[in-house]
Amino acid sequence: GRLLMRLGELITREAEDLAQLESLDNGKPITQARADMVAAARYFEFYGSAADKVHGEVVPFQQGYDVKVVREPYGVTGHIIPWNYPAQMFGRTLAPALAMGNATVLKPAEEACLTTLRIAALAEEAGFPPGAINVVTGQGAVTGAALSESRGIDFISFTGSPEVGVLIQTAAARNFIGCTLELGGKSPQIVFDDADLDKALPTLVGAIVQNGGQTCSAGSRVLVHRGIWDELTAKLAERFGSLVAAPAMEDGSLGALISAKQKKRVEGFLSSADAPVIAQGRVAEGAPERGFYVAPTLFGPVDPKSPLGQDEVFGPVLSAIPFDDEDAAIRIANDTDYGLVAGIWTRDGDRQQRVAKAMRCGQVFINGYGAGGGIELPFGGIRRSGHGREKGFAALHEFSMIKTIVHNHG
Ligand code: NAI
Ligand code: MG
Repeated sequence: GRLLMRLGELITREAEDLAQLESLDNGKPITQARADMVAAARYFEFYGSAADKVHGEVVPFQQGYDVKVVREPYGVTGHIIPWNYPAQMFGRTLAPALAMGNATVLKPAEEACLTTLRIAALAEEAGFPPGAINVVTGQGAVTGAALSESRGIDFISFTGSPEVGVLIQTAAARNFIGCTLELGGKSPQIVFDDADLDKALPTLVGAIVQNGGQTCSAGSRVLVHRGIWDELTAKLAERFGSLVAAPAMEDGSLGALISAKQKKRVEGFLSSADAPVIAQGRVAEGAPERGFYVAPTLFGPVDPKSPLGQDEVFGPVLSAIPFDDEDAAIRIANDTDYGLVAGIWTRDGDRQQRVAKAMRCGQVFINGYGAGGGIELPFGGIRRSGHGREKGFAALHEFSMIKTIVHNHG
């Protein structure tokens, strides 16, 4: 625990350098990268101070027996993380695994791995024993596959695409080990006609523009009560119109996307969209011609069954979908293959509870939305969004196994 907290302190000490490195490596606005480093440090503080607070249980059993249930580390845990929040992901996945006593092997994404290497060096300075934290860079299909198939790991945690998630889970099955998968989403924000729109607006926009929309928990669908469709889409359009994609150090609303491949993917959605464009931001004048910039785009009304209503774009593309009543809102919100996060905007307390309970996903925000944040809050999905829970105390349970010790003392 002390080592983890010390690493948190070192990340805080180096936060500005790490933020610059993350921005340059990933293309995200420097303000976003600074916030990422606060979160990365916080993971180590949180799990450092939690390391000695996971208790076992004593189970009442038959006369003459003492039974305790304890949590033990798996041994060696494997971790494969993506390029969208490398430093944060490093903290999110390694800190709880280490707190439970595992040794860890992490493979960062080939597109952005510099901060993970830098933080691994800081871990050495913090005094972690050799072998506790191992970072192995390499291509997914080579190094990632080798790690996931290795007999040397006892559990694996993966964050990335559903397609690779299937490979990870298959490899885990072959080795008879467990895995957690965090695979993204098509998360809805539902806005009812009694919502506080002024409170909702910055969050509705921020949740899809943050990190250029390359966020697993991006709020990529906004479901709008028909009675406020004109008013809300007009207000959203005004905000979208002022968004600027700019080089990281110019600190625009968003930066460049991660790669040519990702830009092509997003542009594919834009060019094949079968919904009207309500509003579009712009790419900053003077942004490098060959940079991976995409103008943030608001579409609507989007058919909930169409690709823009169903598929994860992983870019700054928001799909506005009208609905007539609460039942329809719930149906549309739940009707994708994903289920990660949902946001509900209404002043009606009964409706807040009804809709929150009806959401088929791992995390629900009422009159708010947290794309990424909330180290204390258990997080994860169902179906195509993956399974298992990270963050909060749930992650400590995920990265440890239960052992039941039965003592017959007569
Ligand atoms: P990806 O799933 O290929 O990459 C994520 C990580 O998996 C990287 O570290 C990569 O090296 C590794 N990997 C790739 N192939 C592997 C294999 N065969 N065995 C083991 N590890 C492997 O994701 P990619 O191609 O970068 O992005 C494609 C789409 O996936 C995105 O457009 C987005 O929709 C989704 N995605 C979701 C993320 C999330 O946060 N949930 C993060 C990144 C991508
Ligand atoms: Mg891939």
